[in-house]
Amino acid sequence: MLCRKQLGLLALGFAFMHVLYTMVIPLRYSVRHTLISQVINERKANKTTPFDFDNTEAWGTDSFYVLGILGFCLYVLLGITSLPSVGAALSWREFSFVQSKLGHLTLLLCTAHGFLYGWNKFLRSSTYKWYTPPGYMLCLVLPSVVLLLKLLLITPCVDHTVTRIRQGWERGRAGG
Ligand code: HEM
Repeated sequence: MLCRKQLGLLALGFAFMHVLYTMVIPLRYSVRHTLISQVINERKANKTTPFDFDNTEAWGTDSFYVLGILGFCLYVLLGITSLPSVGAALSWREFSFVQSKLGHLTLLLCTAHGFLYGWNKFLRSSTYKWYTPPGYMLCLVLPSVVLLLKLLLITPCVDHTVTRIRQGWERGRAGG
């Protein structure tokens, strides 16, 4: 629990690297080569499939990018507020709103980004090379468990009891 901040900053560093590497994807020789040869092959075979506009695919990829970008922006905000000088300028309510509420929202956005990346890939057997789950699936396990537990905690019956326990209530104590 004591190294939560360090772990969060480490993850932010990885997210930065992920964003930078993502920007470079279209510039890579192998990616440009694959795209161009795909079009040329389709042209040679007299097919027009790559030019058909797939609405579902368009919505899926756009939402995937939007969630990633929003998640990343909030993540940076979390990183900035964790700086001692910035944190000191905020009231406790502001700090806990950013770190707790926005923190969970960031987790939700980034997890949704990962789920949209999976889209329908998980249905294809080619995804499971050597019969093992791909990296993105493993990445989704922990955040999904955290979000499910958070969902459980904010249900009114559990939330009410937890709030009372925080306020000092004990089962069976007189006046409780
Ligand atoms: C500006 C923000 C972001 C952009 C533009 C972006 C873009 C992308 C792209 C293009 C991919 C697919 C890569 C591929 O085809 O191999 C991807 C995958 C992924 N992204 Fe992001 N992303 C962003 C932020 C984030 C953040 C903040 C997180 C989590 C902290 C995240 C987690 C992931 C994960 C887990 C995958 C799956 C990686 C894999 O298994 O290959 N992304 N993202």
